[in-house]
This record gives sequence, structure tokens and C-alpha cells, in this order.
Amino acid sequence: MQLFLDTTDTVVLKDLAATGLVDGVTTNPTLIAKSGRPMAEVIAEICELVEGPVSAEAVAVDADGMLAEGRKLASIAPNVVVKVPLTRAGLVATAQFAREGIQTNVTLCFSANQALLAAKAGATYVSPFIGRLDDQTPGSGVELIGAIRAIYDTYGFDTEILAASIRTPLHVTESALAGADCATIPPAVFEALFKHPLTESGLQQFLSDWAKTGQSIL
Ligand code: E4P
Repeated sequence: MQLFLDTTDTVVLKDLAATGLVDGVTTNPTLIAKSGRPMAEVIAEICELVEGPVSAEAVAVDADGMLAEGRKLASIAPNVVVKVPLTRAGLVATAQFAREGIQTNVTLCFSANQALLAAKAGATYVSPFIGRLDDQTPGSGVELIGAIRAIYDTYGFDTEILAASIRTPLHVTESALAGADCATIPPAVFEALFKHPLTESGLQQFLSDWAKTGQSIL
């Protein structure tokens, strides 16, 4: 399973990317606004920090506008993935991007039917927003991942399921169990994945017992 970071904070990204565990990055207009920086500059910097896919979102709402914006975004770096919303226009643009060899992330997916259409349009990734679904009906986000997995496997679609709008470490576990290909994770949740209270207390005990031996390994 690929783990992406959902951020435009390049300081945080650089730090977490050093673990070798960050496979890619996703951004959205809200995160770009939060960075307070020009979009092209942030995306270019992120693309230098990670080799994997970096999603950059078009903001036009018509297909021609998305295509123009997407081509410009894709020209920033070879690892840019153009993000478009799961609308009729977004899927028209997705199909054209597929013909042009431009990778896409179809975002704001909230139903299995939408995901089916995204796959038929040739999306590289589809992003079900599990946190926002769970906000309305707890458990429905991960159920959606499972439904999309079943449909894609039944028909052999190779669109990758990118679990998005992740709020908790449990969302990551549940997405993995439900068969998501990737999850995009906010930095604070990513940090939490490393941790377990028994790891902390177990390590303290080992270090304390080791200190009593007076030994040194080196
Ligand atoms: C990533 O591609 C999405 O834009 C992001 O995960 C949305 O998360 P949110 O629901 O916390 O805004």
C-alpha cells in the first residue's frame, strides 16, 4: 500500500520524506491557500522532495478549462498528477488527459457509481473522501472503499483507489483492510502511525534494564 502525505507544508514534508515512507503527496486548493505561496512554486518544490506522484488540482469547472490548467500543471514536473473533481466535466477532462498520457486523480468521490465512472473515464487514481463521509454516517467511508474495490476487481479496472480525507490512524488501517491501493494522510496522522503506548513503555523498560548492566555495544 502506498502512503501519501496530504500537505503543502514543505518543511514537514522534507522531514517525513527522510523516513523513506512517503510515496507521494496530494494537495488541494484549500491546502495551497493555507501555504500562502504561489501554487506553481509549491508544487515544483514538492516534486523535488518526492519522486512519487504529486497531485495538483485544477480549479476550472468546465472541461476545456480543466484541460488547459491540467496541461500547465503537468508541465511543472514529470511526477505531477492532475486532480479534477468528480463531475461530468471532470470526467470528460479525465478521458482526454488519459489520451494525452497525463495522469489524473479524480477527487471528491462519494459514491461507488462515481468511482465506476472515474475508472471508465481512465482515471489513474480515484479519491473517495472517507472522513467527510464518516462525518455524516460513521463507517460509511470505509464501506465505500470496499465497494469500489469489489467493483474494480470484478471488472479489472486498474484505476488506483486513493483513500482521502483521512482523519485518524484507524482510517488508515480500515482503508488498508478494505483494499485501498493508497491513502493520503495529514502529517499529524502520519506521525501517529509510528506510535503505540506499549512501544514507548517497552522501550523505556529495555533502556532502563540495559543501563543497569553498565555495558556498551560500541
Ligand atoms: C486529498 O486529496 C483531499 O483533498 C484531502 O484528503 C481532503 O481532506 P479533508 O476532507 O480533510 O479536507
